[in-house]
Amino acid sequence: MTGMGRRRQTAIFMDGLMGRRQKVPAAPKMLEQNALSAMGANAAAYIAGSAGMEQTAAANRAAFDRYPILQRMLNNVAERDLTTTLPWCRLPLPLLLAPIGVLEMAHRQADLAAARAATSAGVPFVTSSQSSFPMEEIARACGAGERWFQLYWSSSNELTESFVTRAERAGYGAIVVTLDTTQLGWRPRDLDGGYLPFLRGRGIANYLSDPVFQELIKESSDRQPLPLPGPGALRSALELLRSWPQGARRAVFSGKTLSAIRRFIATYSRPDLAWDDLTFLRQRTRLPILLKGIVHPDDARQAVDAGVDGIIVSNHGGRQVDGALAALDALPGVAAAVNGRIPILFDSGIRTGADILKAKALGAAAVLIGRPYVYGLALAGERGVREVIDNLSADLDLTMALCGHGSFTALGRELLARSP
Ligand code: FNR
Repeated sequence: MTGMGRRRQTAIFMDGLMGRRQKVPAAPKMLEQNALSAMGANAAAYIAGSAGMEQTAAANRAAFDRYPILQRMLNNVAERDLTTTLPWCRLPLPLLLAPIGVLEMAHRQADLAAARAATSAGVPFVTSSQSSFPMEEIARACGAGERWFQLYWSSSNELTESFVTRAERAGYGAIVVTLDTTQLGWRPRDLDGGYLPFLRGRGIANYLSDPVFQELIKESSDRQPLPLPGPGALRSALELLRSWPQGARRAVFSGKTLSAIRRFIATYSRPDLAWDDLTFLRQRTRLPILLKGIVHPDDARQAVDAGVDGIIVSNHGGRQVDGALAALDALPGVAAAVNGRIPILFDSGIRTGADILKAKALGAAAVLIGRPYVYGLALAGERGVREVIDNLSADLDLTMALCGHGSFTALGRELLARSP
């Protein structure tokens, strides 16, 4: 790993010397701008948007500014080690790709492209319940690479069990239960565009390919035909036709399709989920279980008591609750409550190497990359995701060295000029 940052930097400058410009900008804001302008309006709104006035999303970023770094000198940082070890796996870089639903909005190859890029970089891919391809296909795209499965706990326990069993069989190495989305947040950008991808049959591949879900549709008495009153609805129907699995497209114009979508809306989440339900999951899988979306220290303590294997401190990139505490500001409290008993991972606002170091200093063993990798995907598919990972890890490597630290795992609060 040593020298990775400088190698990447040199490669980019050499490209520049040859007159080649990077398609995937290294500057985080430019990356976002370029990707959003390359996408359709609905996709840009869905990916960039957050809840309400988007204050949580803004707070996520602003929080990093409150923890300035204080560098050390003459510390011999020629050798750098970015590896991190979790109790059940070793990560060559302290990074994972966050679970992101409906990646087909950014690129046709969606999760497959992102999974290949993650694997080639040695970074675990976290497949979303709302992925654009069935989890088995994504697992194949990962090859021997580490992958975890993110679970939206369905209102049907049989469906939840089926997802977990499929994930285990497909070689996923952990189950990430997302707790902050028992229902969809209020997202004005999507509301004003009148656009929810799932209603167009996007991001529901795991459901359509699931035997339990297929039974649920059969049982459903709901058989309303697709209404086609005007050009807008026709466009929606064509979109549905494109995203529906091949071989089942004739069903699009029958009542079955709407029935499947209604079924999905009715079953995809469970607002009455409670701590006791975790026992159900624990009894059905041997895989490590991580809870994503924990921000309160008391919830963190309860998670440890419930016997889960890890916590992901996250507020879903500000997409769920507006006016909430920045995820980074929640990290020290959760870390104190957990007191090293289980690993803590972090996401929501990570854009640079310095951000990753700050999250580590405040208690995270590793971080998940969210929107930035989707932007890379939108700009250049698999290669674009790989470049985002390479740029972020090069930045991390160089910044860690420049701060006077050679070991990522050893890094603690001493990195920061101020304590929380
Ligand atoms: C998400 N996120 C998410 N989380 C999850 O557990 N399951 C999911 O299906 C999704 N889907 C999803 C779609 C889109 C478009 C975004 C932007 C995010 C949340 C994601 O895992 C992560 O928590 C955030 O992306 C982190 O915030 P930043 O870094 O993207 O701002």
